[in-house]
Amino acid sequence: IRVALLFGGRSSEHGISCATAAGVLTAIDRERYEVVPIGITRAGAWTLQPDDAELFALRAELPEVVDNGTRVRLPDAATSRAFTLVDADGVESSLGDIDVVFPILHGRFGEDGTVQGELDLLDVPYVGNGVLASALAMDKHMTKSVLVSAGVEVAPWVSLTRARWGGQRELFERRIRGLGMPVFVKPSRAGSSVGVTKVTDETELDAAIELAFAEDSTVLVEAAIVGREVECAVLEGRDGGEPRVSVAGEIVVTGRDFYDFDAKYLDPDAAQLICPASLGDGELREMQRIAARSFEAIGGAGLARVDFFLTDAGFVVNEINTMPGFTPISMFPSCWQASGMSYPELITELIELGLA
Ligand code: DAL
Ligand code: MG
Repeated sequence: IRVALLFGGRSSEHGISCATAAGVLTAIDRERYEVVPIGITRAGAWTLQPDDAELFALRAELPEVVDNGTRVRLPDAATSRAFTLVDADGVESSLGDIDVVFPILHGRFGEDGTVQGELDLLDVPYVGNGVLASALAMDKHMTKSVLVSAGVEVAPWVSLTRARWGGQRELFERRIRGLGMPVFVKPSRAGSSVGVTKVTDETELDAAIELAFAEDSTVLVEAAIVGREVECAVLEGRDGGEPRVSVAGEIVVTGRDFYDFDAKYLDPDAAQLICPASLGDGELREMQRIAARSFEAIGGAGLARVDFFLTDAGFVVNEINTMPGFTPISMFPSCWQASGMSYPELITELIELGLA
C-alpha cells in the first residue's frame, strides 16, 4: 500500500507538522506501507522530500520543509490515482499510484478542510476528518457554537471582528467585561497557542487582541476556566460503530503562566504530560461520553483529540483538534498507548480507517 505523507504547510504550525512527520516516518510499518514523503513549503509548494526522519525531527530550532525545486502534482482527474513528479529541471516523471494520503498538517490550509476538499475533488482517499469537521474544528467560534447546541459545556466567550472592534467598541468592551478577568485572547483559527495571550488586566486587552488579529480576522475573548487540563483521544469506530475514546491524559504546567507554544514544544521543563490522568471511574466515563458526543457533533471521522478543563462543576470542552500533534511523546499517541495501542499500531489503524 502506497501512502503519501503530507506535512509542513502554510500555517504557523508548519514546524510541528514536520516533527509529527518525523515520528511517523520512524514508526510506520514499512512491510505494510511504502511511504512517499511530500513536504509542503511555507509558500505552499508541494515538494518531494527525502524519506529521512532526522531531517524533520524537533530540535531547539523548529524543523522546516526546504524548497528543493521539485514539484509534486496531483492526479489530473478523479479517475486516476497517479501522482506526478516534476524535478528541479522541469522534467516530469511518474510517482506512481497513491492509495491513500496521510495529511499530517496542523492549522490552516491543511487541518481546516482545504486540503481535504482538494483530495475529495479528485477522489483520493485520505486519513482523518473530512471537509466539514475539519473546517468547523479549525474555527474556535464555530466549534463552540456547535458544541453548545449539542449540549456540551464550553467556556463563555465573545467573538470579535475588525468591524465590531472598530465600530462597536463600547458594546464589545462591555461584553468582555462581563466575562470577568482573567481572559484568554485567541485567534479563532490557529493552533498550538500561536497568537494566544492570557490577559489579567484590562489595559493589556488591546495589545492581546491586535496580536490575535495578526493570525486571523476573527478573535475570541474567552473566560479563563479554573480547573485541571485534561484531554482524551478519539478514533472513529470500526465498521460504522461508536467512536472509540482513550483514557485521559493530563497537562500540568509548572514553569509558565499557561500551556503556551514554548511550553508545548520548546521548554521541556515547563509542562508535564501525565497519562493516564488520575480520575475516578465515573469521571473518566463522563469525559469519554462528552468526547464521543463532541466528535459526533462536528461530524468527526478518523481521529480527534478533545481538550477539556475539569472544574468543580464538571467538564468544560476547550476545543477539538482534528489533526492533533502526534510525535511519539505527544498526548494523542500517549493516550492510546495507555489504552493498549502502540504508536506503530495507531499509525496503521489511522491508515486503515482512511482506506476503509
Ligand atoms: N495543534 C496542535 C498540533 C495540537 O493540537 O496538538
Ligand atoms: Mg489544544
